[in-house]
Amino acid sequence: MELKNDLILRAAAGEPTERTPVWLMRQAGRILPEYRAVRSSVSGFKELVETPELASEVTIQPVDILGVDAAIIFSDILVVPEAMGCTYEMIEQRGPIFPQTIQTPDDVKNLRVEEAHFQLHYVYEAIRITKRALNGRVPLIGFAGAPWTILAYMVEGSGSKTFSKARKLLYTSPELAHTLLDKITTVTINYLQAQVDAGAAMLQIFDSWAGILPPAHYHEFSTRYIARICDAITTVPVTVFAKGAFFALSEFAQLDCQTIGLDWNMNIADSRAAIGFNKTLQGNLDPCALYGSFDNIRQETIAMLQAFGPTRHIANLGHGVYPDTDPDKVKCFVDTIKEYSSKINEP
Ligand code: CP3
Repeated sequence: MELKNDLILRAAAGEPTERTPVWLMRQAGRILPEYRAVRSSVSGFKELVETPELASEVTIQPVDILGVDAAIIFSDILVVPEAMGCTYEMIEQRGPIFPQTIQTPDDVKNLRVEEAHFQLHYVYEAIRITKRALNGRVPLIGFAGAPWTILAYMVEGSGSKTFSKARKLLYTSPELAHTLLDKITTVTINYLQAQVDAGAAMLQIFDSWAGILPPAHYHEFSTRYIARICDAITTVPVTVFAKGAFFALSEFAQLDCQTIGLDWNMNIADSRAAIGFNKTLQGNLDPCALYGSFDNIRQETIAMLQAFGPTRHIANLGHGVYPDTDPDKVKCFVDTIKEYSSKINEP
């Protein structure tokens, strides 16, 4: 099936585009009343994730309502630990909890690895249904958490300001940490490849907790494993988004991936200098900028477009959109990207 809008794929490849493509991390979710309606028709978040028809419906909502240039499959990074045997619960207003955390060599030994990705058949089915329903309107992005971020949840057992239990493991049992990271990496590669086989046109790796590691630990316990994933995926473009990892951008230049995501703390010119001109950059408006006035949003968005320049840029926020953001403000961001970049980009 031919894509009618492949801007994001061409931008990832470094080709000139008639305008800058735009999508938002967490675009499928609570910002949309249409999402909340579907969400309240089921018993909980997990039922939505595990019901392919519904996951597909909420995946497509932001394409229809916001006019973004890509869909991202509705799921969560925490389905991977679950497939390995470490189940999670999503507690309303609080976030994820793992009743059983990973602490000992036996815990790591008991995890499912080779067969784990077969457990995630509902994601592949959601991708197939979505691809059919999109009918080539925009590309579909698949995703997974980076091994370090997944380890952080499996060891910590919940979200945390410090993730000190997970970070403690890197100091007290580095070998066990590597054994666990190795297993997560193997499952993640199989999982991402299965998403591609089902129809994902592009992949993003979320390293949400990159910024809490010192640079040497980040190199040893995260970049290495992300590199293994990038090397294994050869047929679709990959984006690496590591929140807070400004210190790792120069080593990201060596990754075999097409796009690096920037958060809103990262200076655009400095990041470009660290990464070089062979990769596309994605980002990076402060999600809080969308609480400003419409005029303000337009100004901030135009300033961002000017800083990135007309090529090798995929417009996005610097992290996921916050749930209480007005969808009209999101639309203002999307429309400004489209209108302004059409004026400045080479035809
Ligand atoms: O639109 C999209 O981006 C696709 C859907 C998506 C979700 N989670 C849906 C979701 C994606 C890409 C994710 C990734 C994810 N999940 C990350 C990485 C991105 C990031 O934000 O750093 C992380 C760290 C998680 C783990 C997670 N899931 C947490 C900590 C929480 C609770 C906090 C919160 O945002 O509510 C979730 C829940 C979650 N994942 C929701 C959604 C729409 C909200 C739950 C609900 O609707 O009831």
